[in-house]
Amino acid sequence: MSAATAAGKGAGTSHHVDAHQVDPCHTDPCQVDPCNIDPCLEQPPYPSVSPALFQKFQKLIYAETGIWLGSSKTALLCGRLFRRLRALEITSLKDYYECVAAPEQHEERVRMIDAITTNETRFFREPRQFEFLAQTVLPRWQAAAEQGLRPRRVRIWSAGCSSGEEPYSVAMLLARHLPPEEGWDVRLLATDISNRVLEKARKGTYPIARSAELPKDLLHGFMLRGMAERLGEMKVKAEIQQMIDFRRLNLDQDCGLVEGPFDAIFCRNVLIYFDSASKRRVVTNLYRHLIPDGLLFVGHAENLSSMFSELRSLEPTIYIKAADKEEL
Ligand SMILES: C[S@@+](CC[C@H](N)C(=O)[O-])C[C@H]1O[C@@H](n2cnc3c(N)ncnc32)[C@H](O)[C@@H]1O
Repeated sequence: MSAATAAGKGAGTSHHVDAHQVDPCHTDPCQVDPCNIDPCLEQPPYPSVSPALFQKFQKLIYAETGIWLGSSKTALLCGRLFRRLRALEITSLKDYYECVAAPEQHEERVRMIDAITTNETRFFREPRQFEFLAQTVLPRWQAAAEQGLRPRRVRIWSAGCSSGEEPYSVAMLLARHLPPEEGWDVRLLATDISNRVLEKARKGTYPIARSAELPKDLLHGFMLRGMAERLGEMKVKAEIQQMIDFRRLNLDQDCGLVEGPFDAIFCRNVLIYFDSASKRRVVTNLYRHLIPDGLLFVGHAENLSSMFSELRSLEPTIYIKAADKEEL
């Protein structure tokens, strides 16, 4: 059954269809019959998925992202796609699959990925890593620069940056320790596969209730408190925002498009969603984008030691691309 038929096959209730709700799988939006929407789609229970259909989504999502949805994730798939189906007025996951898997439906696949990805994040998440940066890495870089052993130029990549908390945390710390007034040129590339989170990241606006996640001196130095209609919000200062280039990038496919090399890469709490093959592909690419002695920071549940001997562990979750790990 085509998505076009699917959109019009539900039992009747009256809904207004606006331009944003039109099934992108239709060439003619007028084919959507607003009287034929299934009222059950207004709220859970979510549409069900057979094991065979789940496998089709599993393969499609893997091919598009490298993310492997284990077979226990059927409820997650249904729950996360529920809103998308409702927006498109498609009544079954089978019809949605036929729509989204069609070769020309690139945009809809991007939206599906937006819905599927897990974007949980925090400012200064994994505090030990920030401590390590501030107490070990940055003083070494400063000392090396003073001896003329390295340029005052630092490039960092936040790979899987979600809504921006990670790259903003790194940028604030670097702005504090390696300020431009001392000749430092620090820039960050921050990438994610999800347009939805990148939009939030570019805005750099967060609920003020989250201010407790930041060290006080960095909060006061680099965040603005919202006033009037912005009450209850905080916003990252322009000097920090300007250090970061946010970009959509699929880590499993587009790494060749990234300039580099980088002094450090943060790829935290991203690899857990991949299987061992996609993890290996991604880590190989990240490794290629590091300078010798460059650092790779991963999430607390991600251990690369057994799969990637080229990276040496300095501490759990912190790796160095170096022949000699005593260098740091
Ligand atoms: C759980 S968040 C982690 C955010 C941040 N790194 C942290 O540790 O707080 C994982 C992020 O990885 C992104 N992601 C998943 N697969 C990806 C891929 N193939 N390419 C790029 N980003 C991906 C998701 O969209 C999501 O925003």
